[in-house]
Amino acid sequence: MSENTTSSQKLRVLLGVSGGIAAYKSADLVRRLKERDFIVRVVMTEASTHFITPMTMQAVSANPVHLDLFDQEAEAAMGHIELAKWADIILVAPATANTIAKINQGLADNLLTTLVLASKAQLVIAPAMNQQMWTNTTTISNVEGLRQKGTLVFGPDAGEQACGDVGAGRMMEPLMIADEMLRLSATSFERQELRENKLILNGLNVMITAGPTVEAIDPVRFISNHSSGKMGYALAEVASDLGAMVTLVSGPVNLCAPNGVSVKPVTSAKEMMATVQQHIGNCELFIGCAAVADYTPIKVAKHKIKKNEENMNVELVKNPDIISWVAAQKQRPIVVGFAAESQNLSEFAINKLSKKKLDLICANNISQEELGFNSENNEIFILDKSGKEVHLPAASKSNIAKSILEHIYQQFLIK
Ligand code: PMT
Repeated sequence: MSENTTSSQKLRVLLGVSGGIAAYKSADLVRRLKERDFIVRVVMTEASTHFITPMTMQAVSANPVHLDLFDQEAEAAMGHIELAKWADIILVAPATANTIAKINQGLADNLLTTLVLASKAQLVIAPAMNQQMWTNTTTISNVEGLRQKGTLVFGPDAGEQACGDVGAGRMMEPLMIADEMLRLSATSFERQELRENKLILNGLNVMITAGPTVEAIDPVRFISNHSSGKMGYALAEVASDLGAMVTLVSGPVNLCAPNGVSVKPVTSAKEMMATVQQHIGNCELFIGCAAVADYTPIKVAKHKIKKNEENMNVELVKNPDIISWVAAQKQRPIVVGFAAESQNLSEFAINKLSKKKLDLICANNISQEELGFNSENNEIFILDKSGKEVHLPAASKSNIAKSILEHIYQQFLIK
């Protein structure tokens, strides 16, 4: 983050507009970002000016638009290196397949790609392209390449496209992008604060499970739950910021891999169990935050089950209990579980703690819609074997994760 940033939301966003039909949404995006107190400057590729005029972008951003690497007048006012240093975040929206490929390769053949290469700012892309281009293996590997270098990828959405095709590739709506940017600005400040704290988990091997599991009934149907993975991903991100080496075993979610965290994607509970067993190695702290489906169909139908009958029975069998397996190991890590309860919170959570032989359990009350499952915030009661209870009042999942990890440090790791 640059020195002169004045408040958590007065971040400087350099919006890069590349040449796709979704460029017409960029004017609205500028407006949405400014409503959220971001300071916005715009850089456009030549191709994007065929879809929206620089004049429009200048009017909405209230700043001159940057177009050309070799424009002497613009360079005299604010040189491209100065502009690259000015930005706290570079947001490329829309990011075409062409621009994504260039950035991934480190090409600098226009002002936008040059600025990306010359800047230390967090890079965010909002891809927009035809669905076939989005699923092309070259695009997939370019996006993956950027992700691995720390780029955040917003979207794309799926639906009907300008060309008439239907599928994934529509640019995420400006309002959604602006909200994600706000969230990013908040977490980047929290992360900086964390980094300035002592690295209390330095070098600790941590494994976290997150998200739901998905249990197939037939090729199209499944059993799952509403877990978004946000709580588990927040724990992984904060643990990594506190110096831990984190392996995140994740069910299917719609979240970006946190920086520095090794993510192992899985689908079913059986796969989650196998992946935990494969990577548990010298794990010193295990946190089971996943909402593992308790039951799975005994048989997965090979073909789609026909709707011939009024009633349909699916015979289920219990899934393996992953956290109990971890806690039963001879050389076991510190084992922390979660319990999502809608009533008798402490009583039910303590029963789980003792049945599964856990060291701690984090009980969350899921009777309120804005807390727990698939929400931004959570409220937790941390319970231990002695029955001691610590209340973490409602806060962002990132803050809750920080408090849980500090609690674990105080109770088990401090020398
Ligand atoms: O993902 P989010 O939308 O952010 O929501 C977060 C959450 C509400 C899912 C999370 O905070 C949470 O509470 N997760 C645990 C959900 C739950 O109630 O799990 P459980 O009661 O089924 O299991 C208790 C513990 O055993 C958990 O640590 C679970 O990961 C573990 N378990 C359960 C079953 C199983 N087969 N294997 C397990 O390891």
